[in-house]
Amino acid sequence: MGTNNITFTAANHVLSVLRSGRIQLKGIFQVGSNYTFLVEVNLQGESLEAVYKPTKGEKPLWDFPSGTLAKREVAAYLISEALGWGLVPPTVLRKNGPYGLGSVQLFVDFAPDGHYFNFTNTEREICRSVAAFDYVINNADRKGGHIVRSNRGHIQLIDHGVCFHYEEKLRTVLWDFAGEKLSENMCSDITDLATSINSFGKLRNKLSKLLSTAEINALSERATGLVASGCLPQPGLDYNYPWPML
Ligand SMILES: Nc1ncnc2c1ncn2[C@@H]1O[C@H](COP(=O)(O)OP(=O)(O)OP(=O)(O)O)[C@@H](O)[C@H]1O
Ligand SMILES: [Mg+2]
Repeated sequence: MGTNNITFTAANHVLSVLRSGRIQLKGIFQVGSNYTFLVEVNLQGESLEAVYKPTKGEKPLWDFPSGTLAKREVAAYLISEALGWGLVPPTVLRKNGPYGLGSVQLFVDFAPDGHYFNFTNTEREICRSVAAFDYVINNADRKGGHIVRSNRGHIQLIDHGVCFHYEEKLRTVLWDFAGEKLSENMCSDITDLATSINSFGKLRNKLSKLLSTAEINALSERATGLVASGCLPQPGLDYNYPWPML
């Protein structure tokens, strides 16, 4: 795994800019249910483009507590990193964005047609790990348009606002591998993730600032359960499709 990773040093550098840089609004994405802004983040002469999602701009949902979607974006990044799969662009929580608390995620440059439904077979194969990832984080809205090929050729995942509910809510377009066996590498990464969550160390500490205890426990149970079953989930009553699918 980890073929998608930007190097450790580069990722750390990006994280410090996202965490401490000055945020300037540049534009607003016209698509999507929540307010999402393109921003420029500047630190000591260095500037990065990023996507800012303030909690104030979140559309209330019946099933997720309000003002929590930005935190779920950050939690998804932490899990992607803990697994070592490099799927989610660096994402941090900022208290002092232009509209207050919100997530700030590195902008991924991708072509409008550079998404899952247009992937090559090789790219689709990488998505096997995405199917496992989405089960573990309990992604309630994995659209094809949110699995993208960056212009640097990496598969990246965006939009993790509605993940980590403690009830099963998996909704995804990614059923190509339903019921197929998990690889040994994936099993080992997911087992390590569960161990790390259950050891009440750094990762648990970070997650506890973003998710409820019930959500963290359910996360660890899904990770353990997935490895125990040895197979990717199949669609059924609880596992379904998002709308729209793109
Ligand atoms: N990291 C990113 N890099 C580049 N573009 C992004 C990134 N995150 C979000 N976007 C863009 O912003 C749009 C809206 O973001 P997102 O889909 O996460 O918000 P949403 O409110 O959950 O939308 P939806 O209702 O479609 O689920 C995306 O469709 C995408 O074009
Ligand atoms: Mg969304």
